[in-house]
Amino acid sequence: MEIGRVIGVYGRNIVKISVPDHLLPEVARPGVYVKMAGADGSTTLYGMIVGFNMLDELYRRARIIEELEGYEEFRPARNEMTVHITGYLSGQTVSKGVPILPKPGEKVYLVSKEELQSIFDKGDVSIGVLSSSPNVEIKIDVNGMCTRHTAVLAMTGAGKSNTVAVLIASLLKHFKNPRIIIVDTHSEYIPLARISNNVRVLAPKGKVTDLIKAQYQVDPIPLEVPLWILGVEEIYNILGLDPRATKQRLYLRQALKTLRVERYREKGYDLTADDPIHFTLEELKIAVINAGGSGRTRDRSAEDLCLKIEDLSEERELYFMTRAEYLEDKFSDYAKKTDEVKASFQVYGDFARSLLDPGLNIIALGGLSSEVQASIVSALLRALWRIAVEQRFRGERVATLVVLEEAHIYAPVGWSPSKQIVEKIAKEGRKFGVSLLVVSQRPRELSQTLLAQCGNLIALRTVNPSDQEHILRSMEDVTRDTVESLPGLQTGEALVSGPMLPLPALVKIFSFKEVFHEELGGKDVDYREAWSTEYMTEIVIPSPPEQTTLVETNKQKSLLDFNN
Ligand SMILES: Nc1ncnc2c1ncn2[C@@H]1O[C@H](COP(=O)(O)OP(=O)(O)OP(=O)(O)O)[C@@H](O)[C@H]1O
Ligand SMILES: [Mg+2]
Repeated sequence: MEIGRVIGVYGRNIVKISVPDHLLPEVARPGVYVKMAGADGSTTLYGMIVGFNMLDELYRRARIIEELEGYEEFRPARNEMTVHITGYLSGQTVSKGVPILPKPGEKVYLVSKEELQSIFDKGDVSIGVLSSSPNVEIKIDVNGMCTRHTAVLAMTGAGKSNTVAVLIASLLKHFKNPRIIIVDTHSEYIPLARISNNVRVLAPKGKVTDLIKAQYQVDPIPLEVPLWILGVEEIYNILGLDPRATKQRLYLRQALKTLRVERYREKGYDLTADDPIHFTLEELKIAVINAGGSGRTRDRSAEDLCLKIEDLSEERELYFMTRAEYLEDKFSDYAKKTDEVKASFQVYGDFARSLLDPGLNIIALGGLSSEVQASIVSALLRALWRIAVEQRFRGERVATLVVLEEAHIYAPVGWSPSKQIVEKIAKEGRKFGVSLLVVSQRPRELSQTLLAQCGNLIALRTVNPSDQEHILRSMEDVTRDTVESLPGLQTGEALVSGPMLPLPALVKIFSFKEVFHEELGGKDVDYREAWSTEYMTEIVIPSPPEQTTLVETNKQKSLLDFNN
C-alpha cells in the first residue's frame, strides 16, 4: 500500500516522508514499518517511523484560531514523519544496514502484515507482538541474543522483570537443555520453578529456604558459599572494610596470604591470596593477629578486625557462609584422601559445577544486604569463569546465559567487588560461551564498559534524562531519536534492537501472568485493597530462634547430592 513520498534524506539513515491526511490512521503511530526503493532503483529499503511533525498549513498562514472555523473540507496539512532506515532486502531475507539511501520524491509503501510476519518469524522463541501490528509475533534469535550480551533497561515498574520472565520461560519451554543462571536479587523469579521441572532454586540455607517453601511450594536447594571460597576483595566487602580502613585491609590481605600462599609454598604450590583455599575462621583470626605484630608493636586495628570477623560469624543470615557444614564435611572427606589444597579445589569444583547443571538455576539472594550479594555474585561468577576457561582449553564451550537482576549493584559506575569479573565476562565471555543479560532500573549507574558490550537492547519506558543520556553515550547502535522515544512507551512496551532481531522493533511484551498462569514474586503491596478489607492476617510476634538443626537437613538434601 502506497502511503506517501520521500521528501528529504539526512545523515546516514534518516529519511523524512510526507503522508496525506486520509492515510494517517495507518501510520500515525510510532513503530510502523515502511519500505521504499533505494537510489539505485533495485534495492528495497526498510525503515521504521520514529518521529512526527504534523502541521496545519492553513493555521500557519492564518495564525489566529478564529479564522479556522469550518475549514475541515479543504484543510491542507503537512504531515511529515521521520523514518529510520534500518535494513534492506538481500535475496529473500531482510538484513541490517543501509547500503544505499533513497532519492527524494521516491514512493513510500507500508510493509504488509504478511511480510512483517515472515520477517519476524525467523527467530526461536516469541516474547510478544509488534505494537503497531498486534497479529505479528516477535521471535528472538537465541544465537543473536547470546553471542552479544543483552541489556534490559527501564525505570522502575516499566516491565523489566515481566520481560525477563517471559523470555526465560519461553526458552525453558522451547529448548530441552538450556543452561541459564538467574542472579535473583529480590527472589522474584522463583515461580518459574512451577512452570518447568528443569528449574532449581538455590537459596541461602536457613530461614529463607523455609520461607520459600511456604510461599511458593518449591523446595529450594540450600546454598552454601563458605567464606574460604571468596577472594580478598570479596571478604573486604563483606566485613565492611572500606578503602579508608587501610591497616585492616593490609592485615587481612597478609593473613590470607599466610593461609593460602605461604602455608603451601613448601609443598610446591604457587597460589595467590585470592585462590579458594580452605581455612577456618579460627585460623583466619590467628593469622590476622599475627599480621598485626606482637609485643610493643602490636596493633589494635588487627584486634578490631578480629572482632569484626567474630561478629560476622554470629550473624544468622550469614551462616550459609560461616557455617557451611555440608561443604566442610565434603572438604574433610576429600582431605583424608589428598592434601588440603587439592581437597579445597575439589570442593570448589563441586560448588562451581552445580551452577552449571543444565536447565535454569535461580540463585535467590532476596533479603541479603547488597554488600553480601555483590561478594557472593563475584565469587559465583569467578567460579563459573574458571570452569568456562578450563572448558575452552578442552575445546568445549559452556554455552551459559547469566541473568543479572539489578545489575547496577554488581557492575556499577563506581566500585563493587563483582565489577571486575562482570566486566571481564562482558569483554571476553563471547569466546568462552558465557553470555550476560543485565537488567537495571538505574541505567545511569551501570558500568559503561558493560553497557558498551551489550549488542542487544531491550529498552522499556525510561523517563530520566540522565538515564537516557547514559544509554545514548554507552551503546553503539542507539540514536537520539530512540532514547527520546522511551518516555512515551506504555508498561510492557519495549524497543528491541540488536542481533536478536532482524530489524529493530517496538514490541508489546506478553504478560507472564497471562501466558504462563503464574505471578512473579516481589509484587507491590496493594494498599488500596489492604486498607479496604477487614484485617484477616494476624500479626505474628517473632519467636526466639531455636538450636539449629541445619547439619541434619543439609545432609538429607544437599546442594551436591541433589545434583548427583
Ligand atoms: N507486558 C506486560 N503486560 C502486562 N502487564 C505488564 C507487562 N509488563 C509489566 N506488567 C505489569 O507491570 C507491573 C510492573 O512490572 P515489572 O515488575 O516487570 O516491572 P520492573 O520494570 O521489573 O519493575 P522494578 O524496577 O520494580 O523491578 C507488574 O504488575 C506487571 O504485571
Ligand atoms: Mg523488576
